[in-house]
Amino acid sequence: MCGIFGYTGKKEAQPLVIQGLKQLEYRGYDSSGIAMQNGSNAIRVVKTYGKIKNLEEILNKQPLKGTTAVGHTRWATHGTPSKENAHPHLDKENQIAVVHNGIIENYFDLKKTLQEEGVRFRSETDTEVIVHLVAKYYKGNLENAVRRALRDVHGTYAIAVITSAEPGKIVAAKLDSPLVIGKGENENYVASDVSAILEYTNQVIYLENGEVVTLMRDSCEITNLAGKPISRQPVKINWDVTQAKKGGFPHYMLKEIFEQPGILTAILKERVRGYEIHFDELKIPAAALKKVKRIVIIACGTAYHAGLVGKYIFEEFTDIPVWVDTSSEFRYRDPKVGPDTLVIAISQSGETADTLAGVREAKRKKALTLTICNVLGSSLSREAKGVIYTHAGPEIAVASTKAYTAQLAVLYLLGLYLSQNFKTMKESARRELLKEFLHVPQLMRSFLDEYKRDEKNWEKNAHDFNVRYHEQLDKYYSADPDKRKRAPNGFFLYLGRNINYPNAIEGALKLKEISYIPAEGYPSGEMKHGPIALIDENPWVICIAPESKTYDKMISNIQEIKARSGYIVPIVTEGNEDIQRLNPAYVIEIPRVSEIFSPLLTVLPLQLLAYCVANEFGEDIDQPRNLAKSVTVE
Ligand code: G6P
Repeated sequence: MCGIFGYTGKKEAQPLVIQGLKQLEYRGYDSSGIAMQNGSNAIRVVKTYGKIKNLEEILNKQPLKGTTAVGHTRWATHGTPSKENAHPHLDKENQIAVVHNGIIENYFDLKKTLQEEGVRFRSETDTEVIVHLVAKYYKGNLENAVRRALRDVHGTYAIAVITSAEPGKIVAAKLDSPLVIGKGENENYVASDVSAILEYTNQVIYLENGEVVTLMRDSCEITNLAGKPISRQPVKINWDVTQAKKGGFPHYMLKEIFEQPGILTAILKERVRGYEIHFDELKIPAAALKKVKRIVIIACGTAYHAGLVGKYIFEEFTDIPVWVDTSSEFRYRDPKVGPDTLVIAISQSGETADTLAGVREAKRKKALTLTICNVLGSSLSREAKGVIYTHAGPEIAVASTKAYTAQLAVLYLLGLYLSQNFKTMKESARRELLKEFLHVPQLMRSFLDEYKRDEKNWEKNAHDFNVRYHEQLDKYYSADPDKRKRAPNGFFLYLGRNINYPNAIEGALKLKEISYIPAEGYPSGEMKHGPIALIDENPWVICIAPESKTYDKMISNIQEIKARSGYIVPIVTEGNEDIQRLNPAYVIEIPRVSEIFSPLLTVLPLQLLAYCVANEFGEDIDQPRNLAKSVTVE
């Protein structure tokens, strides 16, 4: 993961690099650094452990002057998070500096050879071999040396390199890690993600695998690894820079939760014309889709949960059987996919290494591939045969919220689109569904308005949880150690059924990610096969129980929990009267909606609950420990 940012132009580079790294901090935040050309015959590097603000504090005291620099924010793969292992890395003469995102798989052998040649390594990272290789091959032209060095390297990389010997020049290259060039007026940028450069330019070039770019302030030359020139026009990005700022919210996560109704409205407006659904960028003709006999969805993390909801949607709207797999499992078995299979890869970033590899595996087996992703021009959007963009705008909080509901929205529309193509549903029924769907963003908005009115109560409930949680811990730790039996069950259990089961695991994931409290999501029907053993008066059991065909079953499950003194928090449809008889801790009501669309509503309280608990615990909500937004390594 890690974030890279580079600038060459006429302005002072330091503040731009710091600002760029802050935008990229979601990609990793265990250490950071900057390398600057300052006219001397050595590159100046400042790096430090921890977040960008630590780097900024050092630089505020001792600014680096210069107009060409590269910076890096790290998510450790090889070598612990430390100042020594932070990027940029320097060659032994301190004349060349490299920042890197990815993994050099043969670094151990390369390191051994370089050590035998007399190179002394200063870090434990895989990256350091790159800078020594570039130095070894450097004969007065940086791009030639980079191209030569990259021939020795196996693995994945996005790199940016500068040398004190060639003022104003940044050389960057990529293989399977993202890198984007921002073209400005008398200045050029390079970054891991467009959100970091949007403030300065919306003209971007996505570098392809195996390409090397030489940036000067007034030129941008791309070649392949053999040095053959490649011509590519910039594309214009329509994201609004304000979308990548907090907009008055205390955290990006909360802002992104509140953006959801607007995003869904925009998706529907763009895709629905009359009663027809259009995916203009899809690139897969309707005739090819008609040959599809089954669908396999692959994804990771939250996007995988969207895929699980997709299974229910497609199987309800079409006759096509659907399988869902995490990308990391799919890619290493021998998946039975072929020309009659549509493999749909869902990803916010479009850069997740396992999902990308899954698509390649599917293509190797001649399956039709389609990606649903958020980032325009991302690796997945270029790798898959077809693409549908979610257009959710930049998602900055590491815990995904708006990307999830945007993915769901596209899956609903794709289901309706397929049913329109395959004629698997009566036209009148399809139109009714579409009409209801058009109304869903309004329901989401009214739930969020209600949350705002009731915010204090949510905060109070999170506080109650905090108090109960610490009481349990106190009881446990104050007990005579010999009498301690087991740690208290201070956790959350999320239960859901049918199309709301994926939201149970998504709700648990949200909580785990940002509050570090153990949480499990389970299909309610499976509760008696294990999790019920955990129930006593301690865990909070979040029961997703909107009106649905399995509502009665859900109520029976809640009763079973209640009978074992469980602390239940049901999420029900507004106006529900029977739930009070079960004496819940408190009840969350969502607006009335058909079961098929209910995940778009039930997920909102789950996101907000995770947010409120993490906030109450004072955690770093937007940048939880150990996580990164985009997992570009296996
Ligand atoms: C990481 C992120 C998650 C995300 C997952 C898949 O784990 O922290 O929020 O769901 O990667 O990422 P993708 O970009 O493929 O959706």
